[in-house]
Amino acid sequence: MPSLPIIDLTEAPAEVARQIQQAGQAYGFFYLVGHGVDEALARRLEALSHQFFALPEAIKVRFAMARGGRAWRGWFPLGGELTSGRPDWKEGLYLGTELSGDDPRVQAGLPMHGPNLLPDDDLLPGFRATVFAYLDQVTQLGQRVMAAVARSLGLRDDHFAREITADPLILFRIFLYPSRPVPEGVPAEHGVGEHTDYGLITLLRQDDVGGLQVRTSSGWIEAGPLPGAFLCNVGDMLDRMTGGRYRSVPHRVLLNHSGRDRLSMPLFFDPSFDARIVPLAPPAEDDRERRWDRESVHTFQGTYGDYLLTKVGRVFPGLRAEVLADDLGPA
Ligand code: OGA
Ligand code: NI
Repeated sequence: MPSLPIIDLTEAPAEVARQIQQAGQAYGFFYLVGHGVDEALARRLEALSHQFFALPEAIKVRFAMARGGRAWRGWFPLGGELTSGRPDWKEGLYLGTELSGDDPRVQAGLPMHGPNLLPDDDLLPGFRATVFAYLDQVTQLGQRVMAAVARSLGLRDDHFAREITADPLILFRIFLYPSRPVPEGVPAEHGVGEHTDYGLITLLRQDDVGGLQVRTSSGWIEAGPLPGAFLCNVGDMLDRMTGGRYRSVPHRVLLNHSGRDRLSMPLFFDPSFDARIVPLAPPAEDDRERRWDRESVHTFQGTYGDYLLTKVGRVFPGLRAEVLADDLGPA
């Protein structure tokens, strides 16, 4: 049974806000039930995602991230992402809000904005529509949770929606953690290495396999599956805004020895790319010592986009060099 708090969004707003405050401070992680996302839709997406990952590699490369350009979308193979400098033992599909080529943000060459790289209905019937319907519903959930977060901080419910998430940056990933063992000579030690998430909140749906762990002051604890629930965690920007009161807490995924492939679907609900993240309170402490990357979320200058590009460039060094060199400058 999971030991992290479980928050029911159908309870009275003041009660939800109180529980978010407690959980945000104590763990930076909580489960959400009563969230209103259609369970059948989520299950359909999980089934279709398994079908996608089961396609031959020769087909999946048609959707490879290298072809997604500046939008930073598409498929990457097992070992293709490096968290904390080591390859992760996972395969994934990077997605986000669908923007067409004539959207002004895409025209302006804004990184991480653009069309998705997804199989069409001939190859995987219903996949695109299901992804978009799910993105829609979970984005709405993100707004709802941020309204509760605002209330929990003594702010108006629409504070974030007005200031930084009128046009939230939505990045969405579907991961497969294979039960296949890591071959000799591959330096992968985790499904995902220890890290924090970069933005405001992450809304993760996972299947029943387990393996996700969260760091607490008394060691790693399981953030295992709770059927039908979302796992929500505080990202670096919410940590920054609250002066470290709500914590962006390190987490990781263990290698999968279950005998079954694990599927997880994190949606990152983040400030708009050009938002400047102004602290609501001064930092409560110097966070560098306790943070996994030894960098403070409180001291960086610039927009959320600047922060994100620096972070993401580290986990996909090849792509960084090819696609985003102009935005990032020398490594
Ligand atoms: C992430 C993450 C956990 C999981 O993508 O940032 O922590 O279970 N994922 O996939
Ligand atoms: Ni994460």
